[in-house]
Amino acid sequence: MKKITISDLNNWKVLGKKFAAITAYDASFSKVFDSQNIPVLVVGDSLGSVIQGKPTTLDVSVDDLVYHTQCVRAGSPNAFIISDLPFMSYHTPNTACESAAKLMKAGANMIKVEGGSWLIDTVKILTERSVPICAHLGLMPQAVNIYGGYKVQGKTEAQATEIMENAQQLQQAGAKVLVLECVPAKLAQQITLELNIPVIGIGAGKDTDGQVLVMHDILGVSANYIPRFSRNFLAETGSIEAAVTKYREEVEQQTFPDDKHSF
Ligand code: KIV
Repeated sequence: MKKITISDLNNWKVLGKKFAAITAYDASFSKVFDSQNIPVLVVGDSLGSVIQGKPTTLDVSVDDLVYHTQCVRAGSPNAFIISDLPFMSYHTPNTACESAAKLMKAGANMIKVEGGSWLIDTVKILTERSVPICAHLGLMPQAVNIYGGYKVQGKTEAQATEIMENAQQLQQAGAKVLVLECVPAKLAQQITLELNIPVIGIGAGKDTDGQVLVMHDILGVSANYIPRFSRNFLAETGSIEAAVTKYREEVEQQTFPDDKHSF
C-alpha cells in the first residue's frame, strides 16, 4: 500500500470513493491490515475494553495510547493513523497540547477527541500548532456515565440539530475529519453532505465517506459484547486476511453496513 495522507481522504470524499478503517493496537495486526490495503487505522481508547478487558474506556492513559500507537506504526508504515486522546487528557487546551504531542511523536498522523462545542478553542489551538484533529460526535464512549449506557444519539430533533451544529462548528475550528458513532443513518447522511471534511461512521449507516469498526468485532473475538452495527467477517470467510479484505470491499461497494447494521 502506498503512503496514505489526509489529501487522499479529502480526494476520496470529493470523488465519492468510500474507504474502510479498522481499529488497531499492535504491530502484527497492523501489518496484516496494511497488506490488505486498509488505508486508515484508528488506535482507539477502545483498547480499554478489547485489550484491557475493562467495562469502559475511562481508565485508559496517554501512556497506553503512546505505547499502542508506536506498536501500530511499527507494523504499518503507510497507513493514516488516527490516535485517541483518552478521558481527561484534553480537558484544557494546555493538557491537550501536551497529550497530543506525545501521540504525534509516537507516530500518529491525526489526533481524535470526543466532544462538541466545548472543544472549539482546543481544536483551534491544536490545529494552529500543527496537530491535525479528528472530532468525534454522536455516541461518545467517554461520556457513558452521562448517558447511563451506550445509547444511540441524535434520535430526537433537538439532539440531531445539536450534533449537526457541533459538527459545523468543529469543522470551522479546524477539524480535518469527523467520526460519527451510533447515530441514525439519515442524520449521518445529512452531516456527510453538509461538511467538506471526510466523515467516518461507526453505527452511522452506509452514507458516510468512510466506515470504521473495532478489529475484535470484525474477527468475533471481543472480550465484551459485539455491537449490533458490527459484523463477524471472520466467521463468513475463514481467514483473518479474507475477513479484512471482505470488510474493505463491502465498505467500498457500500454493501456494508446494510439496514440491519444501521439505526
Ligand atoms: O476508541 C475507538 O476505537 C474509536 C473508534 C471505534 C472510532 O473511537
